[in-house]
Amino acid sequence: MEGDVYYPSAEVIAQAVLKDWEATAEFARNDLQGFWQKEAEQLEWFEPWEQVLDDSNKPFYKWYVGGKVNITHNAVDRHLKTYRKNKLALIWESEDGKFDRTFSYYSLNREVCRMANIIKAMGIVKGDRVTIYMGRVPEIVFAMLACAKIGAIHSVVFGGFSVDALQGRIADSQSKLVITCDGSLQNGKLVELKRIVDDSLRHCPTVENVIVVKRTAHEVPMEAMRDHWYHDLCALPIANGKCATEVMDAEDPLFILYTSGSTGIPKAIMHTHGGYMVGTYTTLKYVFDISDEDRFWCTADPGWITGHSYIVYGPLLNGATAFMFEGGPSYPYPNRWWQLIERFGISIFYTAPTAIRGLMRFGEAWPNKHDLSSLRLLGSVGEPINPEAWKWFHQVIGKGRCPIMDTWWQTETGAFIITPTPVVPLKPGSGTRPFFGQEAEIVDEEGKPVADGAEGFLVLKNPWPAMMRTIYGDDARYVSAYWTKYPGKYMTGDSARRDADGYYWIIGRVDDVIKVSGHRLGTAEVESALITHPAVAESAAIGLPHEIKGQSIFCYVQLNPGYATSEELSEELRQHVSHHLGPIARPEEVRFIDKLPKTRSGKIMRRVLKARAQGLPEGDVSTLDD
Ligand code: WT7
Repeated sequence: MEGDVYYPSAEVIAQAVLKDWEATAEFARNDLQGFWQKEAEQLEWFEPWEQVLDDSNKPFYKWYVGGKVNITHNAVDRHLKTYRKNKLALIWESEDGKFDRTFSYYSLNREVCRMANIIKAMGIVKGDRVTIYMGRVPEIVFAMLACAKIGAIHSVVFGGFSVDALQGRIADSQSKLVITCDGSLQNGKLVELKRIVDDSLRHCPTVENVIVVKRTAHEVPMEAMRDHWYHDLCALPIANGKCATEVMDAEDPLFILYTSGSTGIPKAIMHTHGGYMVGTYTTLKYVFDISDEDRFWCTADPGWITGHSYIVYGPLLNGATAFMFEGGPSYPYPNRWWQLIERFGISIFYTAPTAIRGLMRFGEAWPNKHDLSSLRLLGSVGEPINPEAWKWFHQVIGKGRCPIMDTWWQTETGAFIITPTPVVPLKPGSGTRPFFGQEAEIVDEEGKPVADGAEGFLVLKNPWPAMMRTIYGDDARYVSAYWTKYPGKYMTGDSARRDADGYYWIIGRVDDVIKVSGHRLGTAEVESALITHPAVAESAAIGLPHEIKGQSIFCYVQLNPGYATSEELSEELRQHVSHHLGPIARPEEVRFIDKLPKTRSGKIMRRVLKARAQGLPEGDVSTLDD
């Protein structure tokens, strides 16, 4: 093999549940449905499916057609009949480390049932949408599983988003219920989640009730009839620990999750009970080789797809022990994560390149203070990992023993798509090859495959169970955004190249999506936040390379008459975006411009702005409007 290659050790191979990658890949290549049939059979179905895959109405694929199932039944209920009843399902630690909470599968079930009974008592029935806007506390897991249990569709909004983002998502989903916390803690500072909910609900008439989980000690206003403390509801007789699990059709919606695309409002990506369940179960089992003895820690937030699939559903479907930490990597000190790995004996640790780069800065002394010998596998997700960070992670954290699973996937794919398994030789910076049953291709503008080594657009050729089924309420946009440019193929929005060994190297987004510290944001969202400021006539947001964050947001702003450029105004506009959209969207820099470069048809030329911002040649500007 060419380049820098890390082969799996004999010890890793001996432990891996799946030893022969080639044979499994071969089986799935020849019999896609057979592969996914075998996987689905490992889970419990109320009624079996009649057909594994129905592709008669592309791109509206259906999986496990006719099957009856419920993901919560498989993530929680089914374990109660086994020794896992007494096994830890979830371990949680607070940001300040003052307390931890643990839940066996038995107690997790009681918590989920209690929450489910309360949600039902709020009038929520199968198919209703419930918005969940919380910090990283155990109740967010209960809320998601409880919705799924009764057939409600959860729509989790990341707790780092603010009013505009939350309001737009509640309004679009027409949720009747919001579940939130009074606040959350971030680096010791309070984030006023409830206040943000209150502001958002001024324009969301569909919401009838708000459940508030108490996490902090600060006072929050409660609106009579609408707002209810969760601990008060828990004291009611209906909130008991028993609740029947709804029988769902395999293709019934499980959740929607909003994600940013090229233009317009974020897209409500819809996933289903059956296919998503099989997809997350199978990928986690093979890629992270998860077993009963493992303590699996995915550092993401449940508000993103990574948290949905690999904090909540994947680990529980596999009967593993999931660890969830409320805080971030370096508060109060840069050894916080390493301390947790040691204290809780984490065996599989899945995080993001931005976090690794950030922690690298503090030096090896911090991790070296801790015994990290419980680790056996590492993982990376969210953006390309630079080889330098890969090697640091491998050597300093994994002590050269733990393979790194660099998993490429998306909100839309629901589960890993391009990823190694522990027995696959690794190359730092490459997610290696497509998962079983998947075939990827690198194509040019016209959809023709490019030669190995050349850059092009990454497309996927086969359907897979955890794929999104549509954009909720907008089938036409689902077709046009993903399936139209390259007919019959799924357009990922990423550029990539493939090397001579068939390994894929992701380069980055080719659309107007920015990945800031792995968080997916749209330029359109940032621009619409800016435009609500009276000084702003027009603006353009672009993503620029950033050493730690991967990309950072940079904005050009054209002012309205009567406003003068100043340092203060620039700072005010950054604040404005942070306040409206969320601190994660705060631009690194806001610069003023007399006139935005546009094509004659009025499209902002971001390419020109990107070059200009970095002091690079502006390239071909022949299409520029005078
Ligand atoms: C975009 C999807 C589902 C994972 C969390 C992000 C980028 C994701 C990798 C990786 C290189 C990656 C892509 C993709 N991305 N993982 N391992 N290597 N790039 O999900 O927020 O929907 O973002 O994240 O650009 O298109 P998301």
